Amino acid sequence: MNPDLQLLHPYPFEKLRQLFADLDAPADKRHIPLAIGEPRHASPELVRRALVDNLDMLSNYPATRGMAELRQAISRWLQRRFGLPQLDPESQVLPVSGTREALFAIAQAAVHAKPDATVVCPNPFYQIYEGATLLAGATPDFINCTADTGFLPDFASVSAERWQACQLVYICSPGNPSGAVMPVAQLRALIELAREHDFIIASDECYSEIYLDEAAPPPGLLQACAELGDNDFRQCLVFHSLSKRSNLPGLRSGFVAGDARLLERFLLYRTYQGCAVPAHHQMASIAAWSDEDHVVANRQLYREKFAMMATELSGKLDLQIPQAGFYLWPETPVPDTEFARRLFAEEHITVLPGRYLGREAHGCNPGENRVRMALVAELADCREAAGRISQLLDRL
Ligand SMILES: Cc1ncc(COP(=O)(O)O)c(C=O)c1O
Repeated sequence: MNPDLQLLHPYPFEKLRQLFADLDAPADKRHIPLAIGEPRHASPELVRRALVDNLDMLSNYPATRGMAELRQAISRWLQRRFGLPQLDPESQVLPVSGTREALFAIAQAAVHAKPDATVVCPNPFYQIYEGATLLAGATPDFINCTADTGFLPDFASVSAERWQACQLVYICSPGNPSGAVMPVAQLRALIELAREHDFIIASDECYSEIYLDEAAPPPGLLQACAELGDNDFRQCLVFHSLSKRSNLPGLRSGFVAGDARLLERFLLYRTYQGCAVPAHHQMASIAAWSDEDHVVANRQLYREKFAMMATELSGKLDLQIPQAGFYLWPETPVPDTEFARRLFAEEHITVLPGRYLGREAHGCNPGENRVRMALVAELADCREAAGRISQLLDRL
C-alpha cells in the first residue's frame, strides 16, 4: 500500500469516539449531537419530487461532465448570486459528487509531487485539505486563524519563499469552524499573490448560502476576479455544494467553477477517477439550484437558533454569532477536551474539541480551548442543549 497513507490523521469524529470511550452518558437525558455538521432541516419537496420523477435515469451511465441543463442552471445561479457575467456552462462549470471528493481530487490533479511542494491551508480547517495534500505528495503549510486575525488567514504573514513553494491554496469562506467571511479585498490580494507566485486557489464556499444578514451575502472568489476585470478566472476555482444550502447532504451534489484551462484537465482526471453524479441526482440538483425560496427559509431557521443561543448563554460563554455558517466556535473555560468530556458525561451533549480541527503550527494549535457546536438540530433541541450547557457552565 501507499506508505503516505500512514500520514493521514484519524478523522476528528474517531478522536471524539476515543475521548468518550471510558464515559457513560446519563441515560435519563436524551442525546443531543452538536458535533457533526450534518444539516438536519427538511430537504425541499421540489427536489425530492424531481429525484423520484427521474428514477428511470438509473438505467443510464451518467457523464462525468454532467448534463448541459445542470451546468446551465449552475451558471445562471452563479450569475444571480455573485453578480457575475454568465459563465460558459461548457468550459467553466463542472458538477461534482459533493465538494468533499472534489476538494480531495483537485489536489491530486493540481499538485506536481516533489520534495519541496506545499499546499497552503487555513488552521483550523476541514480535514480533507490536509489528507488531499499528503496523498498528492505535498506538505501542508498552515496559516493559523485566531481571534487576533478575525479567524481569517493573514496572507501578508506568509513570506515570498513560502509562496514560491506553494502550488495550491485552500481557502474556506465562510469558514468552518469559525464562520468568518473573507472580504473581497482579501480575496483580491490572494488572487494577486497567486499570479505573482503561480499557484492555484481552491475556494471552498460550501457555507456561502447560510448567512446572518439577508442584505449582505458573503462574497466569493469568482466575484473578486470579476472585480479585477478577469472573467477568465485565471488560477481560480470555487467549490459549491447543495448539502448545506439546500439540506441535501445525501444527494452528494455540488460543482466546481472557474478557470476553464484548469477545469479541462480536472475533467480528464475525473474521467479516470469515475465520480459522475447520477443522472436523477443531476435532475434534482437542477431543481435545487433553480429555487431560492427554500434557501431563504433555511437561513431564517439558523438565524432563530443563533439568536436563541446568544440569549440563553449570554454572560456565561463568550459567544460571538458568526457572520455565516451554522457553527458556534466559543472559547472554553476549561481545556476543550475536558469541556467536551464533561458535557457528554454530565449532559449527554456532543461537541467537537477545537484542537481536533487544528494542527500544531507556528508554536500553537489555534483550535485548542475552543469547541465547535453545530446548530443543526431543531430549534427546540438547540434550546434544550443551551439549557444543559448553561447548567454545566454553572458547575465549572
Ligand atoms: C468546509 C467544508 N467543506 C466541504 C464540505 C463537504 O460538503 P459536501 O461534500 O457535502 O459538499 C464540508 C462538510 O461538512 C465542510 O464543512
